[in-house]
Amino acid sequence: MPTQPGTDRPFEIAPSVLPADFSKLGDECSALEEAGVDRIQWDVMDGQFVPNLTFGPDVIGACRSHTSLLFEAHLMVLDPDPMLGAYHDAGCELLIVHAEACRHLHRTLGLIKELGARAAVALNPATPASAVAHVLDLTDLVLVMTVNPGFGGQAYIPTMEPKIAEVRKMIVDGGHDTDVEVDGGIGPATIEGAARAGANVLVAGSALYRDPAGLGHAVSELRTLAEATR
Ligand code: DX5
Repeated sequence: MPTQPGTDRPFEIAPSVLPADFSKLGDECSALEEAGVDRIQWDVMDGQFVPNLTFGPDVIGACRSHTSLLFEAHLMVLDPDPMLGAYHDAGCELLIVHAEACRHLHRTLGLIKELGARAAVALNPATPASAVAHVLDLTDLVLVMTVNPGFGGQAYIPTMEPKIAEVRKMIVDGGHDTDVEVDGGIGPATIEGAARAGANVLVAGSALYRDPAGLGHAVSELRTLAEATR
């Protein structure tokens, strides 16, 4: 796929902490910063929107002082509105809600902005890019899921690449200052396809933690592969 316009945004490597050692999450955050990541993604799951349960705001808040990196909360929850403030107070500067979970997506993004946070929309694999067409003016980042959300370690869905490109084109054509993030199955064998399609923020979980050469090596390898697409 040819390189898409607007992909001159810096590449960012964002770890998912799902594979981290939960008994020492604060230290894990410091280790990720040392390994050279650009931000940290917290996968918040409510056991309803996805069949898994993870981090409440207090857990994230307890880790806030361990790193100066940006925290983003990927809210895989059925009803995000009532909990937006708590995750922002916990130190998450970017709040990602799922288009499929928001009855009034435009209103929810407005609520996030009112908090002084950055707002983002996530799209499940089956959800078309058009779901964000009328809210890009309120959106700092669009997350194109490259797996069905709920678990780490799943296989990357390459048929999402045309949708990544479509979202990038909508952003560029509309003159929006919006990042495109991908999440799920991102690793050395898949990152180039996503980057070439137009993603600039790349979330990786198992690919970072399973590298025998360590986190630092994994992060720089992914960054090198992504940058090689330009
Ligand atoms: C899945 C999460 C992802 C996942 C990524 O619902 O949103 O962040 O943890 O893990 P890998 O990179 O292992 O697919």
